[in-house]
Amino acid sequence: MSITLTQIHLVFSVVSESIDSSRTYCSIMKLKNHQLSRALQTAYSAERAASYAYIGHASSLKDPDEIEAIRRIEQDEWDHRREVLAIMNEYEIPVSRCLEWKYWCIGRAIGLSCHVIGRFMPYFFAGKLESGNVCEYFVMLKQFRSLGITRHDEDLYEMGVREKEHEIHFIEMIKDEPWLRYFEKVFSWGVEASANDIELEDLLGVHRAGAYCKKFRSGIR
Ligand SMILES: [Fe+2]
Ligand SMILES: [Fe+2]
Repeated sequence: MSITLTQIHLVFSVVSESIDSSRTYCSIMKLKNHQLSRALQTAYSAERAASYAYIGHASSLKDPDEIEAIRRIEQDEWDHRREVLAIMNEYEIPVSRCLEWKYWCIGRAIGLSCHVIGRFMPYFFAGKLESGNVCEYFVMLKQFRSLGITRHDEDLYEMGVREKEHEIHFIEMIKDEPWLRYFEKVFSWGVEASANDIELEDLLGVHRAGAYCKKFRSGIR
């Protein structure tokens, strides 16, 4: 059986169309949203700062149960860093050396300060920072959705909810401290005030996550 010129042309057309569609797919994989790329880079570096801060926080505590709880939270932050990096790699977003250095310094400084500022303040400021971190992930989820990308929804939603659990843990640890009412007034975080609108007892679920954090302005970190 002989192969005609028409058949050869047909094969080349199919191959050429496949190459074109694969090029289009690759170009879609690059994230065309500078704000979102920067938010991912910042989250990646800030998660390490949080981990270092919690290493210092845990080593400043005496109660074994409190130490264990902080170590679990530290591990959550390492896990988040790994998950954020996986998303960044998908879009070839580089790790920012500048942010890595900046947040390394912040994390180490906070970790060291935990040894000299008593028990209350490390819990208070950790809770305040976690409160802001919650919406960072929900905002990223919504930005991805605005680009038509929903495959990171579950991961970003779970990271946001986990940060909320951290916030609640920290407020629980200091809710009976007399200093809290004064700090809450000055720093706008505490039993009554939060930087996010997530209710752990009444979560909306990933499909309605777009309803969260509408008033949140990124940049707390
Ligand atoms: Fe985290
Ligand atoms: Fe956290």
